[in-house]
Amino acid sequence: MKRIAVMTSGGDSPGMNAAIRAVVRTSMEHGIEVYGIRQAYLGLMSGDFNQLSSLEVSGILQRGGTILQTARNEEFKTPAGQMRALRRLNEHRIEGLVVIGGNGSLTGALALHKHGFPVIGIPGSIDNDINGTDMSIGVDTALNTILDALDRLRDTATSHQRAFLIEVMGRNCGYLALMGAILGGAEIVITPEREVPMEEVERALEDAYVRGKSHAIAVIAEGAHYSVTALADYLKKNPKIGFEIRLTILGHIQRGGSPSAFDRLLATRMGVHAIRFLKDGLSGVMTALQGRQIVPLPLEEAVSQLRPISDGYFEMARYLAR
Ligand code: F6P
Repeated sequence: MKRIAVMTSGGDSPGMNAAIRAVVRTSMEHGIEVYGIRQAYLGLMSGDFNQLSSLEVSGILQRGGTILQTARNEEFKTPAGQMRALRRLNEHRIEGLVVIGGNGSLTGALALHKHGFPVIGIPGSIDNDINGTDMSIGVDTALNTILDALDRLRDTATSHQRAFLIEVMGRNCGYLALMGAILGGAEIVITPEREVPMEEVERALEDAYVRGKSHAIAVIAEGAHYSVTALADYLKKNPKIGFEIRLTILGHIQRGGSPSAFDRLLATRMGVHAIRFLKDGLSGVMTALQGRQIVPLPLEEAVSQLRPISDGYFEMARYLAR
């Protein structure tokens, strides 16, 4: 193998740059040239390829976002889009591809593998919804950002005796909300996985007030069954709650920032393993963290379902909030 390409796709996540760097430098170690594809599948179809030298990946280890930029794209899902991509890869004499991204991006990678092109996936998404890996790149950093925000909001909530409704990212998956709630000491959590009637949220806040708490925090995943604004409107109608209600949507702040030590290490290990897997002749697999090992997991399995959250964490969130 003499020449490969790397791209980042879908929502950016902190640590993607560390993975690109590891891919480039590990390839160099094996005498393999690396091309960076800009703007994900868009750049793949249009041939936006540039060679990456060691210097180009210097000083990026600690930077959030992705130097290759990213995009969400529908066209690549069509057979015509995939044929254009394969043509571009052949024109540039690329022999293997590393795709860093979430579920949609890895589904695209699987399509290329099915066309016979060697592809390795690296899970990169703050949501932690990719099946078969304990963690994806960016989750730890996003969670730390959420905890920082929660801690700050509790300071002001306590000072004013308020209840804060805090919306965190995760349109299909409540991992960030659930972990944020457990580790940030929230009174209640609402996720897409488990429906929580608004009346139950109302009771939890009321209960916190009656027990003498000076604040209450509810963490709501973006993909919950109702919007955080609808919930706020509902709660504001009940004076019995005791607390004044305030609402904060953390939004894209959760996606940026310098990757944590955990994410730098995970991204680096996954980048190194992606090249090892390609060199070993593997294709259609993702670098998955299972326990302490990085293992090759079939992409088919990675995209077959969203990563389930263990029931134990929901239980934990309930009784630790008392
Ligand atoms: O998949 C990562 C994610 O941050 C989700 O949590 C969120 O719902 C989505 O991306 C937002 O996407 P965009 O940046 O395209 O609005």
